[in-house]
Amino acid sequence: EALVLVVTSTFGNGDPPENGEDFAKNLYAMKVSGTAADIDDVTSSASYWQDYSAQKSMHRSLSFMRMNSLTEGAGGTTSTQENGVANSNVRGSITSDIMSEDNFGPLSNVRFAVFALGSSAYPNFCAFGKYVDNLLCELGGERLLRLTCGDELAGQEQAFNKWAGDVFNVGCETFCLDDDVAMKEATAALKTETSATADKIKLSPCAKTDDIAVGLSRSHCKRVRSCEVIASRNLHGENASRWTQQVVLSTEGITEVEYCPGDHVAILPANSPEIVQAVLSRLDNCPDPDQPIKVLLLKEIHSLNGITQTWESHERLPSASVREMLTRYLDITTPPTPNFLHFLAEYAYDNDQRTRLDQLATDAHEYEDWKHFRYPHLKEVLEEFPSVMLDAGLLLTQLPSLGPRFYSISSSPEAHPGQIHVTVAVVQYNTEYGKGQLHYGVCSNFLKQVSPGDHVELFVRSATSFHMPQDPSVPIILVGPGTGVAPFRGFWHHRHHMVRHKNEKPGEINLFFGCRTKALDLYSEEKEVMRRAGVLTHTYLALSREPTIPKTYVQDLLVEVGGYVYKQVVQEKGHFYVCGDCTMAECVYQKLKNIVQEHGRLSDQEVENFMLQMRDENRYHEDIFG
Ligand code: 2AM
Repeated sequence: EALVLVVTSTFGNGDPPENGEDFAKNLYAMKVSGTAADIDDVTSSASYWQDYSAQKSMHRSLSFMRMNSLTEGAGGTTSTQENGVANSNVRGSITSDIMSEDNFGPLSNVRFAVFALGSSAYPNFCAFGKYVDNLLCELGGERLLRLTCGDELAGQEQAFNKWAGDVFNVGCETFCLDDDVAMKEATAALKTETSATADKIKLSPCAKTDDIAVGLSRSHCKRVRSCEVIASRNLHGENASRWTQQVVLSTEGITEVEYCPGDHVAILPANSPEIVQAVLSRLDNCPDPDQPIKVLLLKEIHSLNGITQTWESHERLPSASVREMLTRYLDITTPPTPNFLHFLAEYAYDNDQRTRLDQLATDAHEYEDWKHFRYPHLKEVLEEFPSVMLDAGLLLTQLPSLGPRFYSISSSPEAHPGQIHVTVAVVQYNTEYGKGQLHYGVCSNFLKQVSPGDHVELFVRSATSFHMPQDPSVPIILVGPGTGVAPFRGFWHHRHHMVRHKNEKPGEINLFFGCRTKALDLYSEEKEVMRRAGVLTHTYLALSREPTIPKTYVQDLLVEVGGYVYKQVVQEKGHFYVCGDCTMAECVYQKLKNIVQEHGRLSDQEVENFMLQMRDENRYHEDIFG
């Protein structure tokens, strides 16, 4: 190809999107061999991961400066700042606006541009996009535009729109295209793809709905399975005012859901019936919301004999009732994007409301303020703009898919055969807009209300670097405050099983857990059983809001036993795992660095190298979320 445009996200601890991984591996194989090659023929996946983590680590210290400013309450990261960091920090390879490096290498005939998506709340912001951008350049590709990072926390869609416009213009210039003509053709192509009009959509009644697992499998291009709920309980007790739900699901007889401790399960949730009903009440041309229908789109085929029109089924949407589509398939709770607001504006009867919607859609600052102030779901948006009446078919085709939510599995396949356990903090929060505007996390509240006998749809995702060490005799340190403890429960059960049934001679496991008060300690009895059984060597508990105790975080306890941590991590080459929110993970990383530096009497450079080496040796593991 002469022109390659890459738009790519980054997850968790800088993880690539699943469908981007092979792409990057192939580029890496090309870098190793100098030509197009299969990664298995030239090197291993492990060396690809090493290359990637080495680059990620290089960004780490700069990211930490940003994290510090966040935790100190500035709350003011902007995409521009982060872009500055990102752009000046990619192995020094981006130096000016239009970069023309010396182009040697297998991709020397390729022009490229990368748009990276991510959230600046994470230490490895846009790491995968940066990596791909860098690889394409190292392979001799010529950048059309500097890498652009779209920050989910600040103006991502606007950043994308700007990038798209810029790349289009530079592309036309580079390939000597008349941009007026090219623009007309591109817009025409886009129009037929995305801007369907109501007359090109038909909601056609059908006999029955698709099986939910089949419909979701097609919608997500994944083998989704339906699993029965065996048990569900609030770990803090049924009458507690806080919820951390443990849900036990049966995977009996389902082979596709095999997992290792540390892996994730993706849950396909259901939207709240109340929000669905509110949206239904604002639809025009809606059939009986409980009647099974198929969404058909009018496709035009241009040929020498003229234009033929055919009705084709929508690819993403199943045969289901409108209510089911809004409940299980479509996202009606994430605040609408600027593009979606434009779409709503077209259907507002009231002029002022139309103007306001258009203003929100075009003015980035207004939009961000509005979005963060209310964090509105579709019901609230429709309440704010009461004159909007939506065509049912159009809405169904314009809404984004309801995405899966990933949770660390908190069981062990050996100790709990035929089961998957999850430990989920139930999310409820007030938006800044008026107290009492309670918002509920979609999936955690869905899981909170399931009962034994219900079914939950899911698939399993392997965690690339969060598994227990191959050698069970090496020491392990686990740091997981709050629901960060979830995967570690899988670890201790796994070890317990191995010790009892396989006669394994185990290494030490030390667990650092943190929560606000003693009453919120998770799995306290189970941890005690494991400690007595010798599976957990020590269980450290950091209480941050227990009235009689000074505020303590997990990293404070690590420092308190710094000598012991040093011995396990450095002298005994132990593995260190961190799971939980990204601010905590960054603090823990820095504290471990301090411990190693102090106890090992290392220079700044030496300790940096040590931390890099720990990652290279796959001994520092993170599973983090925002
Ligand atoms: P806090 O809410 O009192 O600040 C689980 O959420 C525990 O992690 C809580 O005790 C919480 O304390 C604590 N926590 C919050 N921020 C943290 C951070 N940056 N590092 C470590 N622990 C943190």
